[in-house]
Amino acid sequence: MTSSLPSPVASPRTVHALLPQVLAQCESEQKAAVARLIALLRIPSVSTDPAFDGEVRRAAEWLAADLKSMGFSAEVCKTIGHPIVVAHHPGIGSAAKTAPRVLFYGHYDVQPADPLELWTSPPFEPVLVEGKEGTRVVARGAVDDKGQVMSFLEALRAWHAIAGGPPVPVTLMLEGEEESGSRSLEPFMHEAKDQLAGDICIVSDTGMWDANTPAITTRLRGLVYIECTIHGPMRDLHSGMYGGAVPNPIQVLADIISSFHDQDRRITVAGFYEGVDELSAQTKAQWESLGFSDAEFLGDIGLPSGFGERDRSSLERTWSRPTLEVNGIFGGYIGKGAKTVIGAHATAKISCRLVGRQDPERITAALKAHINARLPAGCRAEFELHGANPALSVRESSPCLTAANNALEMVYGCKPLLIGTGGSIPAVGSIKQILGMDSLLIGFGLDDDCVHSPNEKFELRCFYGGTKSHAALLGELSQLSRT
Ligand code: BES
Ligand code: MN
Ligand code: MN
Repeated sequence: MTSSLPSPVASPRTVHALLPQVLAQCESEQKAAVARLIALLRIPSVSTDPAFDGEVRRAAEWLAADLKSMGFSAEVCKTIGHPIVVAHHPGIGSAAKTAPRVLFYGHYDVQPADPLELWTSPPFEPVLVEGKEGTRVVARGAVDDKGQVMSFLEALRAWHAIAGGPPVPVTLMLEGEEESGSRSLEPFMHEAKDQLAGDICIVSDTGMWDANTPAITTRLRGLVYIECTIHGPMRDLHSGMYGGAVPNPIQVLADIISSFHDQDRRITVAGFYEGVDELSAQTKAQWESLGFSDAEFLGDIGLPSGFGERDRSSLERTWSRPTLEVNGIFGGYIGKGAKTVIGAHATAKISCRLVGRQDPERITAALKAHINARLPAGCRAEFELHGANPALSVRESSPCLTAANNALEMVYGCKPLLIGTGGSIPAVGSIKQILGMDSLLIGFGLDDDCVHSPNEKFELRCFYGGTKSHAALLGELSQLSRT
């Protein structure tokens, strides 16, 4: 392979000419790539649980070592929370001096694996299983986000093997707290602003349209997460001695929860819909042309029909409408058997997905006010905020987006679809705000990957396609000039 190393003065065209070889290299490395992904998946980097702190760090170190092996300068950077891996490569060939500088963002932390008993194999002992799309790897983090992080690392590895490095300057920022609120990310980005500077950010933490059709995500919903505890009597009470004569915090909480939506499943919190726009006719038409199947979307999760804001499709409900949901609720006696008790407090974990220009701070305040206004005498609410970030949409036309279109078409033989997603990636907003960079959201997950659920999986064909797509995208970007 040394004969194909370009001279340092290689023109953009010369570097780009290596792309077919780079793509062939991706293919010949597939087996080894799966072995590397499995090694990373074995590390239980659960960021929300302090019991796993050492494992989170081990995952960061694993990634930094891997990046060093492909010519990057890589560092495990200390933060106020879990470390952030930052790595740099100046790029090879003369194109590297003029081409856009790329920042890859991804996360190496994962969600907790519970409920463990529902996994068909242990979550941190990855297995290869045959399914309808061929072989898949089953493990916590398979698609969210380790498999997708490894897809761009494998692309960088192939460029390293064939050309001696990527054809554009590359920085990576891999965080270990995405699944638990990204507490350290913004302070870190302010501090490391100079070394993170670039022209375009590439994020691989979303999905494809289907296994044969790539997609570029152009909208993410925002998120406000509040934990609310209702306190009533000063201690747990005998429900016979006091029941019927005092407020029960669980009932108070239930009444409040049932007040959140009206008959049409619209959210009743005052001012909630400020900044929520109806879809433009153009977007509406584009989404209709996608041919989304409600029956498949719902059938996959065992539901006969949808539920939500009246007269809207599932696609609209998840991509363009805000929500208010309860994600967890507890209080009173939840052990075995019966206990006649009125618990002193009750808690609900409440999250809102935001769209458009909804302001996370205003939503937070409005939600608190809605709850406080419904408390009977003798009860008070205590709030703990677990994060607030706005919705985001990315430009639907730019030279980098055209490069991504071309790269995906080269690999999949069809143009990517522009899609929305109901999920949130707070980092994308921070990257725009602090570093002034737009992101390209190019993901390779499928709807049935069981993200955050037991038996999370990543189809190997998605992993391979993702790897080649990132390799091709780097090649395409090397032909552009920095703006
Ligand atoms: N990768 C997901 C976001 C996602 C999910 C994008 C599904 C597209 C489809 C990300 O890791 C995630 O889970 N985000 C959280 C954000 C939160 C923890 C701040 C989410 O959306 O709940
Ligand atoms: Mn993710
Ligand atoms: Mn996630």
